Amino acid sequence: MQKLGILTGGADCPGLNSVIRAVVHKAMLEGYVVTGIKNGWMGLIENDMRIVDLRLTSGILDRGGTILGTSRLIPPLDKAQTALIHENFKRSGMDAVIAVGGEDTLKIALELHKHHAVPVVGVPKSIDNALSGTDYAFGFDTAVNVATECIDRLHTTAESHHRIMVIEVMGRYTGWIALEAGIAGGAHIICVPELPVNISDICDSLKARHKRGKTFSIVVVSEGAKVLGHETPFAGEDRRGGQRVGRIAEVLANLIEQSTGYETRVSVLGHIQRGGTPTAYDRIIGTRFGFKAVEMVVAKRFGEMVSLRDNKMRSVKIEEAVRQHKTIDDDLYAIAKTFSV
Ligand code: F6P
Repeated sequence: MQKLGILTGGADCPGLNSVIRAVVHKAMLEGYVVTGIKNGWMGLIENDMRIVDLRLTSGILDRGGTILGTSRLIPPLDKAQTALIHENFKRSGMDAVIAVGGEDTLKIALELHKHHAVPVVGVPKSIDNALSGTDYAFGFDTAVNVATECIDRLHTTAESHHRIMVIEVMGRYTGWIALEAGIAGGAHIICVPELPVNISDICDSLKARHKRGKTFSIVVVSEGAKVLGHETPFAGEDRRGGQRVGRIAEVLANLIEQSTGYETRVSVLGHIQRGGTPTAYDRIIGTRFGFKAVEMVVAKRFGEMVSLRDNKMRSVKIEEAVRQHKTIDDDLYAIAKTFSV
């Protein structure tokens, strides 16, 4: 019997379990035994794996997080880590690995495939929706829905108190969550990493709204957004060398309050956007991605990632998916801008 490995790496998000469940069902139909690799690529470094069958995947479709656990490993791996992965992969007897993850996890997959002939198929996971080569990654829809609900709640309190509410959402390099949740939640100003903002433009818009009689405003900002001429505090590295950003909302709120005199409050949504139940959409695309990934293993489409294009399941070279971030859609941003006045 053939053996198929599956791992979930990098930041967790709702929908990972939907993918795992689909992979196990489809793989069993295709005659594979599935090995769950624990904690992303770390499981291959530490030789931490176990068989995953229908008993383990029963009841997980709607559960957030990942039953396999995850870890953040920043590429490129060092020689010793790569050698261990290679050795443990060979010893495990696995014929292929499905790597479910974002940029870092897929870059490691690419490296292992390209230079060490590890047969890998990728599945795109990114709450930031930052991966190229696919219209959507799973996890994003849930994050947008959670952020929208939070914006709705903050809207009513901002209105009652005649305040400016600055809401920080995730998105290190791309502003998809800010843009989509901002539009859905009726934000008046949306700041994204792709387009550094001028504080005087923002304050002018807010003042114009107030002149029209609107005594509150909603500002949605991606954690990776930049205010021209102002540094973001707390930027630095996490303990594995990954880039950490955040607290830009504090910077923005202080500048707004100083310049306009309007009372301003900050809400940082943080990991709430990554937890809990996946939306129906994420469960569905997660399930479709899982099925397609197994089909790609059967067809030996290694070094490729499942992709969603025009609502059809396709595949794309992992290289293409990780080459550059998928930046926000200009037309959508133009629509959002019309609500700033
Ligand atoms: O990459 C996804 C993401 O959610 C980013 O938007 C965020 O900056 C980061 O993960 C935070 O990750 P953690 O705090 O779990 O390391």
